[in-house]
Amino acid sequence: MHRVFITGATGFVGRGVAQALRADGHIVRCLVRRGSEPLLKGLGAVERVEGDVLIRRTLDVAMAGCDAVIHLVGIIRERPALAETFERLHVDATLNVLAAASGAGVRRVLHMSALGTRPGARARYHQTKWRAEEAVRSSGLDWTIFRPSIVYGHGDGFVTVLARMVRRLPIVPVIGSGTARLQPVWLPVVAEGFARALDRPAAVGQAYDVAGPEAYTLNEVLDLIGAMLKRRVRKAHVPLGLVRRLTAVLQSVPFYPVTTDQLRMLEEDNVCDPKPFLHAFDLEPVSFPTGLERMLLA
Ligand SMILES: NC(=O)c1ccc[n+]([C@@H]2O[C@H](COP(=O)([O-])OP(=O)(O)OC[C@H]3O[C@@H](n4cnc5c(N)ncnc54)[C@H](OP(=O)(O)O)[C@@H]3O)[C@@H](O)[C@H]2O)c1
Repeated sequence: MHRVFITGATGFVGRGVAQALRADGHIVRCLVRRGSEPLLKGLGAVERVEGDVLIRRTLDVAMAGCDAVIHLVGIIRERPALAETFERLHVDATLNVLAAASGAGVRRVLHMSALGTRPGARARYHQTKWRAEEAVRSSGLDWTIFRPSIVYGHGDGFVTVLARMVRRLPIVPVIGSGTARLQPVWLPVVAEGFARALDRPAAVGQAYDVAGPEAYTLNEVLDLIGAMLKRRVRKAHVPLGLVRRLTAVLQSVPFYPVTTDQLRMLEEDNVCDPKPFLHAFDLEPVSFPTGLERMLLA
């Protein structure tokens, strides 16, 4: 049994990870920003410590007495007006977490990265995730890195959003051809991987690509969701060049749905071999249709 400190526990992935840790008998201590406490509702008996990954001293206090750290905080969209940039939330935050862990004598660190993170990546999201990974690798701590493709499950920003569009819109807009491939992975599988990694010495010093068993294009994802909901999906493909030009002008508008950086990622395949991850943690893959059924029909 471990006492595990989690950053990002109020988020979509974090809630799943906290649940998996509790189910495995660990004590969970969540870093919570002021105002975000209600998002922990339903997680049961977890310890809560107010703080912010960008304020180092709040982490020093919060980690005392823990024997592992799971660092999940990350953003997909920058909000420069609020000083929420990739540089700060990926690189600076990770440096703070690593320094606080070292200071508190916490050796085991599980770090959330993302599939596609690599040196020389096109998207700034991936570039800064890579720099965070480099900091983790050179920390001297007992680290494990996870790089998921898109994660889906109850309360996500992917299937939930697409299913809403399929239900409500006569025609679903698709950016570009919709033919780039991704490999959606069911949240409980990701979460259990994190939980089991705490007690797998062989996972120390490893980075795992994390994904579901099959790759799908966005067009196929929409068709699968449509089949599940018994609706025919009519798609309107909006040319990428047009979306790029509109996005360059409109991305700072809060309700505009996409950023230039996200477009760069949308153009790339986001696929991998998930077997090393599944084998390392003795996990059973969950097919995308099975996960969809649990989400949309249960
Ligand atoms: N979802 C996916 O498909 C996916 C795929 C690959 C990788 N990832 C990575 O997984 C991680 C979690 O993603 P998610 O989808 O769960 O995101 P999310 O739902 O947006 O959650 C983000 C979390 O980070 C917290 N946070 C943000 N700024 C913070 C700060 N300054 N101090 C403390 N906490 C802060 C948020 O807290 P508040 O509640 O206070 O805002 C929230 O708990 C990210 O690193 C992401 O890059 C996600």
